[in-house]
Amino acid sequence: MSTEAIGIDIGGTGIKGALVDVDSGELLSNRIKLPTPKGGRPDDIVQTVQQVISQVPKLGEGTPVGVCFPAVVQHGRTMSAANVSDEWIGLAAEDLFEKGIGRDITFVNDADAAGYAEAQFGAGKDRRGLTIMTTLGTGIGSALIYDGRLIPNAELGHLELDGHPDYERHASYAAMEREDLSWKAWAKRLQKYYAYLEKLFSPDLFIVGGGVSKHYQDFFPLLDLKTEIVPAKFRNNAGILGCASLAAHGAGLRHRVEAEHAVAKTNA
Ligand code: BGC
Repeated sequence: MSTEAIGIDIGGTGIKGALVDVDSGELLSNRIKLPTPKGGRPDDIVQTVQQVISQVPKLGEGTPVGVCFPAVVQHGRTMSAANVSDEWIGLAAEDLFEKGIGRDITFVNDADAAGYAEAQFGAGKDRRGLTIMTTLGTGIGSALIYDGRLIPNAELGHLELDGHPDYERHASYAAMEREDLSWKAWAKRLQKYYAYLEKLFSPDLFIVGGGVSKHYQDFFPLLDLKTEIVPAKFRNNAGILGCASLAAHGAGLRHRVEAEHAVAKTNA
């Protein structure tokens, strides 16, 4: 399995990338960050990803590349689009990136990447059972991790709850800013949200990520939950670390499966 991989995190405002040591979870290069092109259209984003990759040093021929994106990603297609152009919906995005950058990639949802990073190297390391990672930002991203394995594409930010058809519009960090809510008023909304997740999933751990998680002391004490709740270890780099790590582990798995096939054929 590769010990180095590139992670590229595509967001509504910036596209970031770095070379990662997937054993330790450390960045092995500077983080390159370019603004997301206005409108967030596919060809423009692919071009910016090319630019980011070309600036990441030490990109070897076989270095796995992981890319994460704010959308449901199913069989390489983006099935939704958050804070990027609607042209992504239904698009064979993985192929588009692979053609654009001229190499294979591992392509996943951004919150899934962040959750995987926490499970591998951060607040969820060595935790058994069900961990639910949520990222509180422009929306609410979510990831389900069971015994260290990612169950992809949980879209728990979009639950209908308390008369709100899309609860992330009501309880994300953007909602707090937009409505100028106090910590107390915001925590009331979060309380409803996490208590509901508790009821649905009986998780063993909640991890809260996103930039605002550095202020966890201002709102965690206002929550009354049965489940342990902890702040994420990584904020800005979680997506990069997670998708790099998924790319390296996925490549390792693929090579192992290929090797096993080869042995089976020789023995047949
Ligand atoms: C999207 C998710 C994404 C999250 C964080 C939500 O609006 O539906 O796919 O993970 O925002 O970017």
